[in-house]
Amino acid sequence: MTTTEKATATTDRSYALGRTREEHERLRAQARVWEAATGRLLDQVGLAPGARCLDAGCGPGETMRLMAHRVGPEGGVVGIDVDEPLGTAALAGLHAAGHTQCAFVRHDVAAGEALPGAPYDLVFARLLLFHLPQRLAVLRRLWDAVAPGGHLVIQEYDLRPISVLPPLTSVEEAVRVVIGAFDAAGCDVRLGARLPAAFAEAGIGEPDGTDVAGRLDPFAVGVRMLGAVFGSVRPGAVAHGVTSEDGAAGVAAALESDAAEFADRPMLWPLMIGAWKRRPKA
Ligand SMILES: C[S@@+](CC[C@H](N)C(=O)[O-])C[C@H]1O[C@@H](n2cnc3c(N)ncnc32)[C@H](O)[C@@H]1O
Repeated sequence: MTTTEKATATTDRSYALGRTREEHERLRAQARVWEAATGRLLDQVGLAPGARCLDAGCGPGETMRLMAHRVGPEGGVVGIDVDEPLGTAALAGLHAAGHTQCAFVRHDVAAGEALPGAPYDLVFARLLLFHLPQRLAVLRRLWDAVAPGGHLVIQEYDLRPISVLPPLTSVEEAVRVVIGAFDAAGCDVRLGARLPAAFAEAGIGEPDGTDVAGRLDPFAVGVRMLGAVFGSVRPGAVAHGVTSEDGAAGVAAALESDAAEFADRPMLWPLMIGAWKRRPKA
């Protein structure tokens, strides 16, 4: 086992987030927040008209839409995800918007099989490896799916910055529970900062570049995402003993009342960190 895997190894290997309508809506809202940061990376690697792209762990398909705009009707965009209802709904929305070059395939990237449709000019994943205890093996598989001259682009969170100034106990406790639930499920809550090390450990080599995006909101705005993530991980956090039902209810109530009382306090989001690498031409 490598250093990056050891840093996050736990006994539970299940997905930490929910699979509910509310969680799907939260993923769409989160994707809108990071649209500019992801678009910047797609432009950085120079996604050309006609290119073929893979979005691994595509979720609500928002990055597939950004890809479709760039590759045009002659290109191709494949989204893969283990959550079939989410992927199917994403694809319906993309086709309704005219992006008929998009396709969705239900695929579990952790199952050890080759990625469908490889190789691609761009292989992209955002907030996928974070969740996977076998993240280095999956990272290697994503790299294997990159065509000669193509790019691998990864974006992952580093959750450490989440905070309000001056600090609030409700936020500190919510963050403790969220990080505890992710840790218990085998996630790496600092993977963003570890991406260069993960690329090296996966045998990909040093990234060609990195990108760090952040966000600062009034607490009344930021609390909506924090509260939604808290709600999504809450069953797992209780199941793993990170908090109790009563404790979780108390934090949810405290977040709501603090958001009303301290609405203007500045709240920092997690960092969204990107890294990319071009595969040499054969
Ligand atoms: C936090 S969401 C991110 C979604 C999307 N990449 C985005 O940034 O908007 C993580 C996604 O990875 C998917 N996922 C988790 N484990 C997976 C696996 N083993 N294989 C494929 N997809 C997986 C989830 O279903 C979910 O859609």
